[in-house]
Amino acid sequence: MPDSVAAIVDKYNREQGYIVSILQDIQEEQHYLPRAALQEVSKLLAVPMSQVYAVASFYKTLSLVPRGKHVIQVCTGTACHVRGAARIVDKLERDLNVQRGRTTFDKRFTLEEVRCVGACAMGPVVVVDKDTHGNVNLDNVDNVIKKYD
Ligand code: FES
Repeated sequence: MPDSVAAIVDKYNREQGYIVSILQDIQEEQHYLPRAALQEVSKLLAVPMSQVYAVASFYKTLSLVPRGKHVIQVCTGTACHVRGAARIVDKLERDLNVQRGRTTFDKRFTLEEVRCVGACAMGPVVVVDKDTHGNVNLDNVDNVIKKYD
């Protein structure tokens, strides 16, 4: 059963200094930060909603809109681009029936393009959640994705 927002805040002893960790834990559990969760954090930490919102908007790993259970990030930096990253994005859009930047209807995947993830020698690179997959191509991308359900 998922932790409630209150349980997560309590885990950090309701300390304001842990607000980023608290928001990350909520994001991990709910795959994004619903407004109601931000309001609860604001109340429990006694931090103004504007400040909670500012933190939630600042960090790229935090999302204010619903995301899929798994986030697929295709690197389209220069090194990956010249090795065919755009074709991988196109294929994933077709196969998953989702546009880049969007989440599949079943909320299983969010598909994103990202710039260099620092693994250029392994390009094209696809990062799924925290896993980095190198040398991805049109033939093996299905195998990479099917591990995530
Ligand atoms: S350009 Fe893709 S990892 Fe650097």
